[in-house]
Amino acid sequence: MAHHSRLAIFFLILLFIDNSYTAFPPSLLDYNAYGVKIAMNEYFFVEVQNDNYAPGFLVQFAPYNDTPVSVQCTVTFRNSIDHYIYSVTMGKSQQQFFFAGELTNTKNGTFIGVAKYNASSSSCDTRFSFTVQYFYNYEHQEYYVIHVEPSGRYAYGFANKFIFIFDSFNISLNVWNGNETWPDHSFSPHAIDITNNFSVIAGFIRNAVDATAVYIPVIYLINFSSFTNYPYIVDQYRPNATVDTWQYLLTNSDADTYSAKYDMSVSINNNGGVLVGMQFINRVFLFSVARSNPIRLYFISRNTNGRSLGNGKSVAWLDNGFAAILVNTYSLNYQWASSEIYVYDIQTYGYNSNSTPLSIFPNQHQLLPLSFSSIFLQIISSPSSLALLDDQGNVLIMNPTPSGYFPAVRDSGSMPVFTSAQLCFPGTYKNRSGIHDCSICPSGTKNGGNSSTQCVACATNSFCPLGSVSDIPLSALTTTKQVIAYPKSPESIIFDEILLQNMFHIGSGHCLVVSPIFWSLIVAAFAVLIVILMSILKHRVDHPQSRKIRQRLKCIFKHTDLIGEGELWVGGLVSFAVVVLVSFAYSFSRQYLYQYPIESASDSHFACDPSLRNAKFQTNLQSISIPPTDAEQKMFYLLNNQTFTLHLDFVNTAANCDIISLQVLYGTRWSTIRWLSCSNVNSILSLTVVLPYQHASIQIYISGTQIIGALRVGLSSAGQEDEHYNLKELNFYQAFYKYGEVLTQNLSINLDMTKVINETAAMVGEESDYSGIYIPTFTTDIDSLFLTEDQYVYSTSSSALLTLVISETPYYVKNLQEPIAKLSEIIFHNILFTVVCLEIFGLIFLLYKLVSTPLRHVYRSCYAAKHKKNNERICVF
Ligand SMILES: *[C@@H]1O[C@H](CO)[C@@H](O)[C@H](O)[C@H]1NC(C)=O
Ligand SMILES: *[C@@H]1O[C@H](CO)[C@@H](O)[C@H](O)[C@H]1NC(C)=O
Ligand SMILES: *[C@@H]1O[C@H](CO)[C@@H](O)[C@H](O)[C@H]1NC(C)=O
Ligand SMILES: *[C@@H]1O[C@H](CO)[C@@H](O)[C@H](O)[C@H]1NC(C)=O
Ligand SMILES: *[C@@H]1O[C@H](CO)[C@@H](O)[C@H](O)[C@H]1NC(C)=O
Ligand SMILES: *[C@@H]1O[C@H](CO)[C@@H](O)[C@H](O)[C@H]1NC(C)=O
Ligand SMILES: *[C@@H]1O[C@H](CO)[C@@H](O)[C@H](O)[C@H]1NC(C)=O
Ligand SMILES: *[C@@H]1O[C@H](CO)[C@@H](O)[C@H](O)[C@H]1NC(C)=O
Ligand SMILES: *[C@@H]1O[C@H](CO)[C@@H](O)[C@H](O)[C@H]1NC(C)=O
Ligand SMILES: *[C@@H]1O[C@H](CO)[C@@H](O)[C@H](O)[C@H]1NC(C)=O
Repeated sequence: MAHHSRLAIFFLILLFIDNSYTAFPPSLLDYNAYGVKIAMNEYFFVEVQNDNYAPGFLVQFAPYNDTPVSVQCTVTFRNSIDHYIYSVTMGKSQQQFFFAGELTNTKNGTFIGVAKYNASSSSCDTRFSFTVQYFYNYEHQEYYVIHVEPSGRYAYGFANKFIFIFDSFNISLNVWNGNETWPDHSFSPHAIDITNNFSVIAGFIRNAVDATAVYIPVIYLINFSSFTNYPYIVDQYRPNATVDTWQYLLTNSDADTYSAKYDMSVSINNNGGVLVGMQFINRVFLFSVARSNPIRLYFISRNTNGRSLGNGKSVAWLDNGFAAILVNTYSLNYQWASSEIYVYDIQTYGYNSNSTPLSIFPNQHQLLPLSFSSIFLQIISSPSSLALLDDQGNVLIMNPTPSGYFPAVRDSGSMPVFTSAQLCFPGTYKNRSGIHDCSICPSGTKNGGNSSTQCVACATNSFCPLGSVSDIPLSALTTTKQVIAYPKSPESIIFDEILLQNMFHIGSGHCLVVSPIFWSLIVAAFAVLIVILMSILKHRVDHPQSRKIRQRLKCIFKHTDLIGEGELWVGGLVSFAVVVLVSFAYSFSRQYLYQYPIESASDSHFACDPSLRNAKFQTNLQSISIPPTDAEQKMFYLLNNQTFTLHLDFVNTAANCDIISLQVLYGTRWSTIRWLSCSNVNSILSLTVVLPYQHASIQIYISGTQIIGALRVGLSSAGQEDEHYNLKELNFYQAFYKYGEVLTQNLSINLDMTKVINETAAMVGEESDYSGIYIPTFTTDIDSLFLTEDQYVYSTSSSALLTLVISETPYYVKNLQEPIAKLSEIIFHNILFTVVCLEIFGLIFLLYKLVSTPLRHVYRSCYAAKHKKNNERICVF
């Protein structure tokens, strides 16, 4: 017994020692090592499972769906222990597959095998007959690739040290030294694809000894001899890095040992289009080869994806000139970040760094199965279907769907996972068959979900952005503002000036009718008329009666004289004009007094300018942290005590309330709250939420895949009126929309609320009236909320999130309205005005007297002298 166990331990130790010095211990669970582990054509899909010492093959027969017709087998070949399979491949239309690899665990040798399908057998064990050929002359190869020519008869194997042709019909293997074919003996092949007429193989060669890069990539074009089927190199392309780029600094010094980082991928389509992916420089190259005379590898374009690794980890042409590119993102030190499959229509739109894919997998509604890892390794096309391998060995087979449908993942829990056709969502369409997703309806067209093969034109004056589901009237996007700019004070806020301006202004039309000076002048004109009449009476009519009338009038006018205190009868006449002017002044002042406050004043018909108001204004910003006065404080209380109701309209969407959930931030915790109302009427999803507190942060999750065209945000709150305090009703809306674009999935809106407080000083007494309202400021840049058609393709998140943060500005707007003139001031200034008017005329009379009295004396003395000496004409003073 003891003896036996000692023996067992001895053998175990031997085993470990043996293992420790084998040159090639591959990790059996790593699907990302030493080659392509999946293959597919229209008959079956094969996945290599190296994960125990005897490798097996998972074979999934077409059709690739979950129906009972679809059969699956796990098969292996006899004596397969210690076989490590590098890669598996198959022709386009044969019911057989090839596999190649090396022996491990102290055994040495290289092998190539074929598994032929026997259609008449019903059991998985006998369905495939295996033939394996071994050769032992070559040491372990780090890179060893195989491929089949399309007819499926000949398999080619390429490594640095050897090349072989394996005839699967007559089972014969022809191996020769690699250095007989490779123009550069250091060439190690990393990826290959073969067509009837040519082949493209990509790999590394050793660079010149003095160069920076130790290994550099090279792409060879291979022609096949029509007699012997021998491959020979006819052209090559070296993707040189541009100077001063990060790729230029790569040395690739470890490219001689296997590393998934140096994986390459080649795919050729029926038209001679060649895609070569090199993930270590983040590039995919597109070449073209003339099939009739394949002697040149024409470079067409390339796609570089920024400063990361992983673009073109795997490439696969699909039908109709489409291609799928596996775009992984690794940091430069090869830390995985993301994996996505981009589907391009290369035939129609070309392919370069600026190309936009038709769709990206996974996306909003094409989700990964739950069991799947998010690290993708390989894609293979059939070429109509596409198989995807993840790093756990899980497989997803995406089947092409006809127009109007997209391939939706059906997570059945079994492996492989298949897709099935699902109708395009409203707002999207698909007019070609393929594995790509539906595209968003272009701006100006809509799809309500009935016909998904094309979008129909919208009505002309409706809101119809990208991805529309129906015609939305523009009125659904009205922005409501509640506050207008506060008025400015008039040019003059001194009552004297206003009074003088209005008294001595003559305009036309209405201004003429209300002009005091105009009426005064008319009265003055009458006065002049009377003066003329009087002088006519005096000088021309020499009649006692007329003299009497003249004396009486003089007497009356002397009594009415306010200017010369009854001295002059002309003064009496002029006084009438003064009285008219002063009366106008009183009337103006009385009416002017009541033009306050502007909110209750009507047009000033009594003045030339109907907008004349007895009000002056001040507006300023004040810090909210300076304690307000007691009178103001109450307005603050009212404002701070308002309860906000949030209104959200998601415009032009088919989304329903069932995909909405709400959270509000309490402290540092997001808690769920309920909405007040929610409904989708005419493609507008309206949501109303009562906010638990004023400056709440609220998150609205929109799970699911619906497209939203525009957003309208509003807040409402009831008003309240008190004796001196008027809290205005809050009710504003702000629409966010952009023609030709669609809302992003990650919406972040900041809403700053500012208090606006109007103070209206009282005309009589001390107590002012206050009114207050909040005004909103949306500090979010509207451009950050919208995506163009191209950007939308890259938005792959399966849910949308709207975060609304309400905060208050640290200042408030204080508006103050005060009367320009109060009653006492008006009375005082009117008295002044009267006195001034009288005094001015008095002054004129005084001047008149001062000038006229000496003149009259002179005249009289001259007149007298003239009578004395008729000859003398000179007046002597
Ligand atoms: C591999 O095995 C063959 C015989 O099976 C032997 O001749 C050869 O030396 C071995 N090569 C190496 C590298 O071990
Ligand atoms: C195919 O399978 C059937 C039934 O198992 C068997 O009789 C037949 O010999 C097989 N043919 C080949 C070529 O292996
Ligand atoms: C292949 O085998 C067929 C018979 O199965 C034979 O006629 C033909 O000559 C063979 N071809 C070669 C190249 O060995
Ligand atoms: C190719 O390599 C083999 C073995 O490595 C060597 O014997 C042979 O001379 C080489 N041929 C050429 C053309 O370099
Ligand atoms: C890359 O550089 C080599 C050597 O300088 C040159 O022969 C080759 O044409 C260049 N390839 C490209 C694509 O520019
Ligand atoms: C490509 O090869 C196939 C078979 O070798 C041949 O039938 C076909 O004519 C070739 N195509 C062209 C364009 O030369
Ligand atoms: C490549 O192969 C085709 C036959 O497949 C042949 O007609 C053509 O001449 C070859 N071209 C070169 C450059 O050898
Ligand atoms: C599909 O739709 C696009 C965009 O509307 C259009 O350019 C294209 O011609 C359509 N293709 C087919 C096959 O109808
Ligand atoms: C604030 O509102 C609550 C109820 O909504 C009310 O009880 C309270 O008196 C109000 N406070 C002020 C200062 O208006
Ligand atoms: C303040 O007064 C202006 C001018 O009358 C008015 O437009 C505005 O609505 C008032 N604001 C408040 C908060 O009452």
